[in-house]
Amino acid sequence: MRIRKDRIQKDLEAINAFNGTPGKGVTRFTFSGEYQGALSYVVEELHRIGVECTFVLGGNLRGRLTGLDPSGPGVMMGSHLDTVAHGGRFDGTAGVVAALEAARAIREGALPHRLPIDLVVFAEEEGGRFGWGLLGSSAWSGRITAGQLAHIKDREGVSYLEAMEGAEIKVLDSSTLNSDSLKAMLELHIEQGTILESRNVRIGVVEAIVGIKQVLVTIEGAANHAGTTPMNLRRDAMQGAARIIAAVETVAQQEGMAGMATVGQVICEPGQANVIPGLVRFSVDVRHSDEVRLEAMVAAIAHLAEGISKTRDLRCHIEVKAEAEPVEMSPGICDLIEKVARTEGVEPVRMASGAGHDTGIIAKIADAGMIFVPSKAGRSHCTEEFTKVEDIALGAEILLDTVLELAR
Ligand code: GLV
Ligand code: MN
Ligand code: MN
Repeated sequence: MRIRKDRIQKDLEAINAFNGTPGKGVTRFTFSGEYQGALSYVVEELHRIGVECTFVLGGNLRGRLTGLDPSGPGVMMGSHLDTVAHGGRFDGTAGVVAALEAARAIREGALPHRLPIDLVVFAEEEGGRFGWGLLGSSAWSGRITAGQLAHIKDREGVSYLEAMEGAEIKVLDSSTLNSDSLKAMLELHIEQGTILESRNVRIGVVEAIVGIKQVLVTIEGAANHAGTTPMNLRRDAMQGAARIIAAVETVAQQEGMAGMATVGQVICEPGQANVIPGLVRFSVDVRHSDEVRLEAMVAAIAHLAEGISKTRDLRCHIEVKAEAEPVEMSPGICDLIEKVARTEGVEPVRMASGAGHDTGIIAKIADAGMIFVPSKAGRSHCTEEFTKVEDIALGAEILLDTVLELAR
């Protein structure tokens, strides 16, 4: 094997030492001190093998291994280093360390390639800091503008661009990623589900990524005294929100196994035990593999929210904060990953991803593919998240050969 498991293990440990919540899972929000530390580790490791690094539009990192044709379109491999709050050690990080180890193998073995091979670290994939995910890849591919990034703020009111500057990330290449400059994108990721484990298969080939729409619902009522306001005279934003939140679950259940909807964040104002809530804001993350059904789910939730608000004399406002259409991976790349996996003695499972990935955004402009490795008990976005380093190494070996073939 050209891929070295011991170095992957060391990379995982080094990167996860940059953690804002030691002992309580990994919290590494985009552009935080921990994020800068983890990113610097990757940059130093790339410098060690003579790979030049540049920050590109959206604050994403690109390390370029130039090939025989330096002006040709690139083949990208990578993932993300940001995490959710109290998340796991592998979501995103596994894909970065696999790509890093593949880059080392290419350099050490002087493995030939014509096209540039880029290692990328996407910023703010999770939305842990700025609330909404896939921002780095969306900015780089021109789906959102720098003007919009200036208005996307974290909980402290710091904008994406200010935070990027604060982390001393200077964008040297502000060109938009397009199909002329990019040939293909490959991402290794943990499965975050149980399909591979339950079938005892070590590699998954992703054929499609689910569509996601994240909306922010604001319910406005009237704050008032909890002891003196009769029940029939209240405009309690929380009572309205609670009924809408319950209805969100029903909307998803009506889609069978294909639809998902999650209310993961609720903010109540003024948030006092003896004050009737005047305002409640909550996120709804809606997912479906069929774009029409995804839109129908969001429309049904909006309709229910408006109806419930009306009957309770509340004001309701719904804003779409992030969206990624369902997307299919390139059949050619899926076949190639499968072929390479077979040379490693693995018959991979083809599957869809219920999690969102930057590769889904990039797939709109170039051929894209994803390699999944098993997650223990399917746990993810939590401290229990676990993947064997042997599986990441096997995935990295497949990533390496797939990327080399595409960059040949
Ligand atoms: C990212 O992990 C997502 O699926 O939201
Ligand atoms: Mn991820
Ligand atoms: Mn994630």
